[in-house]
Amino acid sequence: MLTNAILLSMKNMEAVQDFSHISVLLYETVDVLDVTPGKTYFDGTFGGGGHSRLILERGGNVRASDMDSDAIENAKVSEVFRPYFESGQLTLTKSNFADFLETSDDTFDGMLFDLGVSSHQLDTTERGFSFRRDARLDMRMDQTTPLSAYEIINEWDYDELKRIFYEYGEERYAPRIARRIVETRERRAIETTSQLVELLNTHPKRVFQALRIAVQDELGSIERMLKTAPDCLKSGGVIAVISFHSLEDRLVKHAFRGDARLSVITKHPILPQNEELNENTRSGSAKLRTARKVGE
Ligand SMILES: C[S@@+](CC[C@H](N)C(=O)[O-])C[C@H]1O[C@@H](n2cnc3c(N)ncnc32)[C@H](O)[C@@H]1O
Repeated sequence: MLTNAILLSMKNMEAVQDFSHISVLLYETVDVLDVTPGKTYFDGTFGGGGHSRLILERGGNVRASDMDSDAIENAKVSEVFRPYFESGQLTLTKSNFADFLETSDDTFDGMLFDLGVSSHQLDTTERGFSFRRDARLDMRMDQTTPLSAYEIINEWDYDELKRIFYEYGEERYAPRIARRIVETRERRAIETTSQLVELLNTHPKRVFQALRIAVQDELGSIERMLKTAPDCLKSGGVIAVISFHSLEDRLVKHAFRGDARLSVITKHPILPQNEELNENTRSGSAKLRTARKVGE
């Protein structure tokens, strides 16, 4: 008979195998936070917990959030994180980081945001994030929210579709794609990623990026976070943001430059080195920007 301990460890193995995410710019990001044992750091995008884990190993306390319940559940059954939860060195909340910061009275010695999608989300077929996998149109990071890619594709009007493909996908064929979607759905609902890919007639990457950003209102959350984060940062503390496309990076760059509470550390963003690029193709577009909270 399988004992509870064996069952739990099998569950952990599944969880760890399921949640393969190679952290991007891991040392570059955590080094700049200059982790001091006993001080407290906020990780707004816990994901597979790679960045948090390094902070914990260096003795920092971590307060973390992620809007995806898979990330939370996975951490809760992981042997790696169990001792940190038990000792209180780690707490993890299911929340959008912007909501978390807007409602928190805490201040932190450093903050990090590793934006975008996790490998777990991309690799889990039924989440519908990947144009390479056939699934129902979804793309919700928080699976409890009502808006998914399905509603956008089947209900938003031509102008709205065109706008998100232009603005969030920087897709030059936005009008043609929006028209084709509207015409197709008059005949039948567009239900799956494959049906969408089939009608696009162009590379799906930009359209999928646009949909993901729209489903989550990702740029809205980043803007709200950039406004609030400096208030939650102690003087001398560092905020580090890893972005994955120009729309995100532009928001971070301008917010850091234009915020009197911050002094920019990275005049130019830090990019992954060749070794990381070779090991992790996902790191290709990553840019790390950091800034320090100036004294009051
Ligand atoms: C790139 S992964 C983070 C990976 C993590 N740093 C690691 O090393 O494993 C991004 C994570 O952030 C989460 N996320 C994205 N936008 C978010 C938001 N506005 N609020 C909370 N979590 C968010 C996603 O659900 C995903 O799990």
